[in-house]
Amino acid sequence: DNDTDLFNRPPVVTIMGHVDHGKTSLLDALRKENVASGEAGGITQHIGAYQVEQNGQKVTFIDTPGHAAFTQMRARGAKSTDVVILVVAADDGVMPQTKEAIVHAKAAGVPLIIAINKMDKPGADPSRVRNDLLREDLVVETMGGDVIDVEVSAKEGTNLDKLIEMILLQAEVLELKANPNRAAEGTVIEAKLDVGRGPVATVLVQKGTLRVGDVVIAGSEWGRVRAMLDENGKPVQEAGPSKPVEVLGFQATPSAGDMVAAVENEGRAREISEYRHRQKRDQMAARIAG
Ligand code: GTP
Ligand code: NA
Ligand code: MG
Repeated sequence: DNDTDLFNRPPVVTIMGHVDHGKTSLLDALRKENVASGEAGGITQHIGAYQVEQNGQKVTFIDTPGHAAFTQMRARGAKSTDVVILVVAADDGVMPQTKEAIVHAKAAGVPLIIAINKMDKPGADPSRVRNDLLREDLVVETMGGDVIDVEVSAKEGTNLDKLIEMILLQAEVLELKANPNRAAEGTVIEAKLDVGRGPVATVLVQKGTLRVGDVVIAGSEWGRVRAMLDENGKPVQEAGPSKPVEVLGFQATPSAGDMVAAVENEGRAREISEYRHRQKRDQMAARIAG
């Protein structure tokens, strides 16, 4: 794309951190809705993607699970993002999955903003968190470094404006741009087979604009977009750069992490799909043959 084709796009922010440090609660507070209370056992088992708008500026958030079992999801989350918000509970400090998230963010070369959460709790000790972070080579501003930290409480909604402000500031520095006027490209954030609706893929559009009726390929699966829903379940006709949408119409369920691309027609989509299925079979056969 030429520079003249590029337009500003909202930042994509992935929320990471140890289990129960308050990632989903923080996102709920930012969205002013209640996702966390509807979860089985209060444990996030998938990646949720939402767009939040403040003073006309949009931010796309990707929630990730903190449970130890979901390393792959966290690694993927860090890759398709512009900024990582690392949530650390002020009463618990840096824990194993906090460290893991730091590793993923560093590996992906993504800037981190620290949200020191649960500041409302009597046991909250933000200095301890900052010292813990120092041990992971993250030096916050108040200790002379350049890592931004914000003390927040998801529960009481404290300092959320400041957190958003820091995200928008960081986004400005990154000069995030994309061309909305081209065939769509993106990433599958999560996918599942829904009993009533068939394959459903949450797609983060990264370039171009995805439209109902487009023929898409995701990894080895293809489909014609039958419908798209935004994070509130509202049908939308199109989705531009940084927009997360649920896409219906795939012939089979793609995999989280798959690259998505709109292609010219069904014939081309089938061709790519068959080629990639064949590749998968060959790889499998080679593995079995040793
Ligand atoms: P996983 O997705 O399972 O890793 O957890 P999570 O990081 O999304 O944490 P979640 O939002 O599910 O919150 C865990 C618990 O901490 C819940 O009981 C929340 O109510 C509580 N919690 C979250 N934020 C705060 C806060 O700011 N203050 C207090 N007091 N409790 C909080
Ligand atoms: Na939780
Ligand atoms: Mg969660």
